[in-house]
Amino acid sequence: MNITYDESTRTFKLDTPKTSYLFQILGEEGFVGHVYYGARIEDTDLSYLLCVGPEPFAPSHTDRERASYMDKFLSEFPGHGLGDYRESCLNVRDEDGHEAVQLLYRGHRILKGKPALKNGFPATFAGEEEALTLELILEDSVLGLTCHAFYTVFADTDAITFSRYFKNESDRKLIIKKADSLSIDLWQEDYELLTLHGSWARERSIDRRPIGYGKTSVGSFRGESSHQEHPFLALVSGKATQETGNVLGVNFIWSGNFLAQVEKTQFDLLRVQMGIHPDQFSYVLAPGEEFQAPEAVSVFSAEGLGHMTRSFHDLYRNHLIRSPYKNKKRPILINNWEATYFDFHTEKLLSIAREAKKVGIEMLVMDDGWFGHRNDDNSSLGDWTVNEEKLPGGLKYLVDEVNKIGLKFGIWMEPEMISPDSDLYRAHPDWAIQVPDRIPTRSRNQLVLDLSRQEVVDHVFEMVANVLRSANIEYLKWDMNRQLTDLGSIGLSSEHQGELCYRYVMGVYQLQGRLVKEFPNLLLENCSGGGARFDPGMLYFGPQIWTSDDTDAIERLGIQEGTALVYPLSSMGAHVSDCPNHTVGRITPFRTRGHVALAGTFGYELDITKIPEEDRAMIPAQVEMYHKYNDLMRCGDYYRIASFRENHYYDCYEVVAKDKTEALVTYVQVLRRPNQHGRVLRIPGLDPERKYLVTFDDMEKKDLHLTGGALANAGIWMEEQWGDYRSVLIHITAE
Ligand code: DGJ
Repeated sequence: MNITYDESTRTFKLDTPKTSYLFQILGEEGFVGHVYYGARIEDTDLSYLLCVGPEPFAPSHTDRERASYMDKFLSEFPGHGLGDYRESCLNVRDEDGHEAVQLLYRGHRILKGKPALKNGFPATFAGEEEALTLELILEDSVLGLTCHAFYTVFADTDAITFSRYFKNESDRKLIIKKADSLSIDLWQEDYELLTLHGSWARERSIDRRPIGYGKTSVGSFRGESSHQEHPFLALVSGKATQETGNVLGVNFIWSGNFLAQVEKTQFDLLRVQMGIHPDQFSYVLAPGEEFQAPEAVSVFSAEGLGHMTRSFHDLYRNHLIRSPYKNKKRPILINNWEATYFDFHTEKLLSIAREAKKVGIEMLVMDDGWFGHRNDDNSSLGDWTVNEEKLPGGLKYLVDEVNKIGLKFGIWMEPEMISPDSDLYRAHPDWAIQVPDRIPTRSRNQLVLDLSRQEVVDHVFEMVANVLRSANIEYLKWDMNRQLTDLGSIGLSSEHQGELCYRYVMGVYQLQGRLVKEFPNLLLENCSGGGARFDPGMLYFGPQIWTSDDTDAIERLGIQEGTALVYPLSSMGAHVSDCPNHTVGRITPFRTRGHVALAGTFGYELDITKIPEEDRAMIPAQVEMYHKYNDLMRCGDYYRIASFRENHYYDCYEVVAKDKTEALVTYVQVLRRPNQHGRVLRIPGLDPERKYLVTFDDMEKKDLHLTGGALANAGIWMEEQWGDYRSVLIHITAE
């Protein structure tokens, strides 16, 4: 990694291990022109790339045609309303109602390590020897607005992070209407657009399509990152595969509204942007006040999607997730949601715990329905006191009994919500987000607490902390089962209403930040109606997130493929559930369900006292499998070998130890292909010179002795198996 500034050409060059990012200061004014982002190069002067006319761009030289230059310029900080008709990265309204802004270079600093963002914002972190940061100071002197833009490169991954904060240095009010965190201009190659779309129970499906002229975007203004669209996009060169071709991936460390956009212009330039969604957003900056935009991340890979994925995984594992659990095996849990839904009591939970203990499960998680008078999803959110009819003796008695059985105890809560049928709502109806005089829009019969208000945040914190203080609770599943609507807060004056969604996310972050501070050893698993808030912002607070409410092993192949495209396997909540599956009704072998859940944090979501004996009998071996392979799965390099989503027959992925001494390949034959005898699987990522032993679990297949070169190039032969949904683990160890 390196960051240099060449005085003679006024060029900044940021190097990651395999990529370079160049931009240049232009003209007397200090325009910032984007020069290059791609595979690592040694040159620093590529200013000819900014030659969008006969001369390099500099409006001070050719003011007659400023507008046409502005509209072609490869801009690092595209302004608004001053000649660049493409999407701006910033829009500011002044007190006179004008919307015109252009940030220009004023100075810079190169720092060791990485400074924290303001206000406890989630962000990547690094020690002094692990990263370098460029702080660029920019200004719009007409508005009196300054911007500090930070770029960080890391020694151990090909990611670059981008963050910005703004300060009103004028004596007048400014209204920020848009503030992107990242904007990159580049020439169109044959790039396609890859995004992750979804819905409840089918989150983060990979969608790849050509890029047409104009703007193409994905976004959320649901108040969270959402099931539907994901704060990630990648430009993928048309022929790119897992291992070849250019890919530029962009992600957002933010858990609220976002807009990820690519614009293809009249000159075939592409502008890629990531930031808070400008719809339903405005932020008033009084004189002297600051505004922090969240951090965005980019990864360029000249080695296909696979290298992009591994770079994101390394960044998030080493520089984002903070939990003490991040480098540890997570306890194998059993969750009672699909086992009992709301219908449980202490004895039922203890009977599950006793059976679970016998087979090696390590923690019982009590899900929704233990508080207030909640026997379905119509009431009691906000009343976090135990329902003594279900749990006589209270939480402490239950937890102590579970601990006596030899299991840890975890609990479910949904702290951000309020049921209209709750004591909390009866006492504080104004604490719900709502527009006065309108009937509040309910979803799952619940409303959202107004976490833009400090008194509400403080109250929620005490409610959650009191539960955690009341017994030996070692895990919390923090759920959020509805999205925001009716955007109104009585805590905000009319001119500040546009800040609600931003301040709401800040409230969530404040809550979780305080929580992990008071309970540093708590294992926090975030969740939002499945995986609607699976984003890097939440990973900063908890090391794992419930990936999806769809626990069907076959549906999970696609959901986990899309999720693992960006996020490390160690962050994906994955459980073995009962069949027929509660979401799709499919029946799959228990063994396959175990193999698929092994990719994530691993646990069970079933009534162990009721499942078939032959399934229960398999659990001890699955527990052993988890303990044998979890270090590898959590810490290794991920390779996608085949995708059921693409080939419609089988799925295959591999995790290779960083030192290349071991690998595990998971192969699932989803459908049997008639008259097909088998297929070759090429196994990448190992040392080509080294000899490996290849073993297959539960298959009448002889061990193999092959070099990493043979595994990657010749591959192994996998016979077609009889029947659907069969899976095999292939373990590879250095000889
Ligand atoms: C949604 C979660 O994703 C489920 O696992 C479960 O906790 C329910 N909420 C409970 O209401």
